[in-house]
Amino acid sequence: MKRLLRRLRVPAMILGLIFGAMQLVPYGWSHSNPPIEQDTPWPSADGRAIARISCYSCHSNETEWPAYSYVAPMSWLVRRDVDRGRLKLNFSEWPQDEDDIEEAIEMVEDRAMPPTQYTLIHRAAALTNEERSLLLRDLEKLEDSDEDGDDQSGSDDRGDDDGG
Ligand code: HEC
Repeated sequence: MKRLLRRLRVPAMILGLIFGAMQLVPYGWSHSNPPIEQDTPWPSADGRAIARISCYSCHSNETEWPAYSYVAPMSWLVRRDVDRGRLKLNFSEWPQDEDDIEEAIEMVEDRAMPPTQYTLIHRAAALTNEERSLLLRDLEKLEDSDEDGDDQSGSDDRGDDDGG
């Protein structure tokens, strides 16, 4: 046993050094929340509450950074999720593209969002069937009100590819 410990000492030191060095990589240090430009006008308090718990950590400027997001390498993964999430859809920058709301409806219907690796750790973010339908109802209303804004209503929209 003693000999085993002695043999593990150098590998353990090396691992410790690597772990320490990882903390020095600046990517993941920033836990910034940019100002809220215009929060999404959720049609119901339920929809708002559900979205805040299940989506806002990655799709808003109101990220609640968990303790593990301060420790590399988890900090890198969280940073990446938040950056990519905000880029695709940001509930703090209303109005969002109508296409993005439609996509959100699809993602929630298909249970692709919130991501499983997130709900495994953040159990409260997982959607029950009731929460899913409440959220979908609100997203659909938001999509409709978004549509009123432009003059294309009436034509059937089969998402022509004008990119973004
Ligand atoms: C743990 C972080 C996280 C949470 C929580 C989360 N998302 Fe996402 N979401 C992402 C990331 C990361 C992407 C970008 C994926 C990519 O680029 O492939 C994304 C992409 C999306 C997209 C765009 C999909 C596409 O292919 O363009 C939509 C819409 C979306 N999420 C909606 C939601 C909704 C609605 C919720 C809440 C019910 C939610 N997300 C919760 C991280 C998250």
